[in-house]
Amino acid sequence: MNRRYRKTVIAGNWKMNKNATDTKKFAEELKAIMPKTKWCEVVVCVPAVNISTAARAFKDARVAIGAQNMYYEPAGAFTGEVSADMLKNLGVKYVILGHSERRQYFGETDVIVNKKVHAALEAGLHPIICVGESLEQREMGITMELIALQVKSALYNVSADKLRKCIIAYEPIWAIGTGKTATSEQAAEVCTAIRTTIRQLYGARVARSVTIQYGGSMKPSNAAELLAQSDIDGGLIGGAALKADDFVAIINAANQD
Ligand code: 13P
Repeated sequence: MNRRYRKTVIAGNWKMNKNATDTKKFAEELKAIMPKTKWCEVVVCVPAVNISTAARAFKDARVAIGAQNMYYEPAGAFTGEVSADMLKNLGVKYVILGHSERRQYFGETDVIVNKKVHAALEAGLHPIICVGESLEQREMGITMELIALQVKSALYNVSADKLRKCIIAYEPIWAIGTGKTATSEQAAEVCTAIRTTIRQLYGARVARSVTIQYGGSMKPSNAAELLAQSDIDGGLIGGAALKADDFVAIINAANQD
């Protein structure tokens, strides 16, 4: 983390977990033990159908609401899809875009991710743009090129002003839901490379203002070490964000003086 230049953001990605009843229960549990967050922003990215419930349940807490996906067209005949404006209108602040599960199971490409980034920014949302390599790609030694390509294509034609509203999340696919966390050195190496790519595109001042998260089996036992890396400005947390006490332990790790 480097709080002088950028915001620390701890975001839970619930994925396809918790119904509306569970959402209300979680909100009560979290609010009961949530610390005063002086140093970091806390976000819960809930399934789209639970956004209204979450917005109501967290109204009196310092917890921002995020979505996990959206479509890039503003409106029209796109059965089953949700637009950026619909999310914004419900009080959503952040939207996860290009998560590896969307790329893997729903055919999302770098081009689609870029269109979604533009649509989200246009609607006033803050995109959390996910990038990450598979185990095969890591073993082939192409991680850095691949991540640079994902970052560059996601940010294609995004202005410096708009980039300041984006978060980049580095999530190595091999560390997601596997219990296998990247070491803090591995995570830091890629997060630093992401900032270097942004510096090449936008210059040093912009690059140092961008929040870069790590995601992939982040949990109470490894959060502090990961967050101690100067280019890791927060976490995108799956499994450990589903339990209020684990999520709070990670928030506490980011919230130290
Ligand atoms: P886990 O924390 O369950 O590994 O999930 C990470 C993730 O995919 C967050 O978006």
